[in-house]
Amino acid sequence: MKILVTGGAGFIGSAVIRHIIRNTTDEVINLDKLTYAGNLETLAEVSDSERYCFERVDICDRAEVDRVIEQHNPDSVLHLAAESHVDRSIDGPAAFIETNIVGTYTLLEAARQYWQTLSATRSEKFRFHHISTDEVFGDLPHPDEVLSPSASESGDKLSLFTEKTAYAPSSPYSASKASSDHLVRAWKRTYGLPTLVTNCSNNYGPYHFPEKLIPLMILNALDGKPLPVYGKGDQIRDWLYVEDHARALYKVVTEGVPGETYNIGGRNERRNIEVVETICDILQELRPSDKPYRDLITFVQDRPGHDRRYAIDASKIQRELGWSPQETFETGIRKTIEWYLNNLDWCQRVQNGSYQRERLGMRS
Ligand SMILES: NC(=O)c1ccc[n+]([C@@H]2O[C@H](COP(=O)([O-])OP(=O)(O)OC[C@H]3O[C@@H](n4cnc5c(N)ncnc54)[C@H](O)[C@@H]3O)[C@@H](O)[C@H]2O)c1
Repeated sequence: MKILVTGGAGFIGSAVIRHIIRNTTDEVINLDKLTYAGNLETLAEVSDSERYCFERVDICDRAEVDRVIEQHNPDSVLHLAAESHVDRSIDGPAAFIETNIVGTYTLLEAARQYWQTLSATRSEKFRFHHISTDEVFGDLPHPDEVLSPSASESGDKLSLFTEKTAYAPSSPYSASKASSDHLVRAWKRTYGLPTLVTNCSNNYGPYHFPEKLIPLMILNALDGKPLPVYGKGDQIRDWLYVEDHARALYKVVTEGVPGETYNIGGRNERRNIEVVETICDILQELRPSDKPYRDLITFVQDRPGHDRRYAIDASKIQRELGWSPQETFETGIRKTIEWYLNNLDWCQRVQNGSYQRERLGMRS
């Protein structure tokens, strides 16, 4: 199988490509614009493979997308290219509208035109898999509220996001992802394009861009800089190790039922403050510091519109496709910290680029 992966130079896209080249005989075409978040060093281990090639293309450029599709004749598309950072979407939403909505529309139209020209056998097997986030669902009741007397009277409980949860995005990022999910479903319903959508919780692991929460905290701690935590740090996220996500995406694109949505998550709900404290404690063990890393934690003004809690019910993908995560949060976070300690030179190179040192804040 030949798979066109968009956004393959990013954090999750590169993990997917490494997974495919390592574990299958499939070919991969990586289509990526290489924004500040794209980094080809993440693909060093596969770049010499005859089954891998790279095309520097913007998904909003229809002529170039058509050229790549025509030249490589893919059997499926895994669409990950996106602007992905919530804080950036608050400061400058335009790029999110352009890439996440217009870009997805452009890719859908190019894929539809191509799919219509395929033979019956190939068109039946063709898949357009759109990778999305649990942030499209908005936020869930938080235990601090649910356990309060007024909440028990109103019947609030600790629910999870399922595939049927209504969309209620809070940030420009999540609203742009919600829009793109709707477009993808409409292209299935209206034109019959065999689409799949997955909505995943927060990922973490190697090659995560250092503006995001976990790498930012690791690197700041090692530099003796403050560890900025939004609000009281009580926001809850459901963390999934990136390689578990990559395995899930390959399962869905190869075995998923067209038109279906699958939620992906690790049932690893943690308060942001717990995540930061865990990082400090593991660092204290691996790189002991005279001044405990926990002393660097500082609370900063909360992000506007900050969702309180996300948590995914991943029982459908477990039941129907037999996927389940291999890493617990404890094993995954330790591996991640060890990876950063062994790859500080990568972090430095990425940070020397467009990393905005002056911006402090909790990143999700
Ligand atoms: N990171 C998470 O925790 C998470 C969780 C759930 C879903 N997702 C989704 O997974 C996908 C990948 O996320 P990520 O964290 O790897 O993002 P990322 O920001 O690390 O990577 C995005 C990649 O897309 C490329 N790109 C951006 N605009 C482009 C354009 N116009 N044309 C072509 N390429 C472009 C970038 O160069 C980069 O390589 C996104 O769609 C995101 O919404 C992410």
